[in-house]
Amino acid sequence: AASYYCNKLGFEELAYRGLETGSREVVSHVIKQDKIVFVLSSALNPGNEEMGEHLVKHGDGVKDVAFEVEDCDFIVQKAKERGAVVVKEPWVEEDKFGKVKFAVIQTYGDTTHTLIEKLNYKGLFLPGYHPPLFKDPTLPKLPSGKLNFVDHVVGNQPDLQMVPVADWYQKNLLFHRFWSVDDKQLHTEFSALRSIVVTNYEETIKMPINEPALGKRKSQIQEYIDYYGGAGVQHIALNTSDIISAITNLKQRGLQFMDVPSSYYQMLRERLKTAKIKVKESIDKLEELKILVDFDEKGYLLQIFTKPVQDRPTVFLEVIQRHNHQGFGAGNFKSLFEAIEIDQDARGNLTILEPNG
Ligand SMILES: [Fe+2]
Repeated sequence: AASYYCNKLGFEELAYRGLETGSREVVSHVIKQDKIVFVLSSALNPGNEEMGEHLVKHGDGVKDVAFEVEDCDFIVQKAKERGAVVVKEPWVEEDKFGKVKFAVIQTYGDTTHTLIEKLNYKGLFLPGYHPPLFKDPTLPKLPSGKLNFVDHVVGNQPDLQMVPVADWYQKNLLFHRFWSVDDKQLHTEFSALRSIVVTNYEETIKMPINEPALGKRKSQIQEYIDYYGGAGVQHIALNTSDIISAITNLKQRGLQFMDVPSSYYQMLRERLKTAKIKVKESIDKLEELKILVDFDEKGYLLQIFTKPVQDRPTVFLEVIQRHNHQGFGAGNFKSLFEAIEIDQDARGNLTILEPNG
C-alpha cells in the first residue's frame, strides 16, 4: 500500500518501523509529501488484536487521525471530564533525538485521534522510527504529485449519528461548527446526505461529518457504512496550489479518478456567464482533466475525487485548490454524486428501497 501511494500519488518513504528495527507486533511505513504524512501499518503476527481485527472488520481504512498539540495532558484531562473515552492515557516515548508525549482518544466508530506533543523532538519522524530500508529509485523520475497539506478529513456516520458526533467534537475537543454553504442536506434524484463541518479554534483542522438521508435509493453514505462496518473516514482532501499540474501529473502516474459527465461542463459554462467571479484556469483544460468547480460571489474552489483507494468501496481521496472559497464543494454534489452512483450501480448497490426497509 505504501508503494501504491508513492507510485500513484507522489509520496516518498520517510521512515520505517518493523521487525528489523525491533518492532515485533506492527510494521509501519511512513510516507510524506510536503506537509502530508500517512503512516501505513499492518500486523506482523496472526491474531493481532489491535491491527489485525481492525483490518478484518473494516478492510483497509483510516484507523487514526493524529493531531499535533501544544498541551496533551490538558486536552486529555478536559476531554475526560466531559466524558470522552481515553483509549491510552498520556505516555512519553524517547530515543536519542528527544521525547514525544502521546495520548489516544476514541472518536466515531473504531476511529481514534492520537494527540502528539513534541517535546523538542529532533528526529526524522517519531521515536522508534528509522530511515526507510529501501528507497525506490524510480520515484524521483516521476512527475511531482504537487500535493501540499491535508485540507479536510470527512467522517461518515450511520443514520442519525451526525449531530451527536459533531457535538462530540464541540464538547470534548472544543471545536466549533464551521459555517459553510455545504451545511445542509445534499441530494440527487436517488440519494441524499447531510453534513456538518466542525473545526478547531484556529480553524486549521476541518472535519465534515456526514450521515445518510432518505432518498429513493440507498445513500452512498449507507453503502460506505455497510462496507466499512460502521462509522469511519470517508475521504481525505489534499490541498494543492496548482491543481492543473497536480492532476496532469497524477494521471500520468496512473492514478484513477471519478469520471464527470460532459454535460457538467456545458452547465458550468452557462452558470459562469452570470457569475460574479472569474475562473482563472481554462475551462477547456479543467474539462479535459475532469476537474470540478464550485463557486459563490467571492471565490471558487477546484476539486477532483479519486476512485476508492482499496478494493472495498470505502475510503477515497480528493485533490482541492481554493481561491478565496472556504466551502467543500456542495454545488458539485449533484453532478459528482450522479457519477458516483453510476459506479455504485455497477457494484449492484444502488438498490431501490422498500417502503418499510
Ligand atoms: Fe471533500
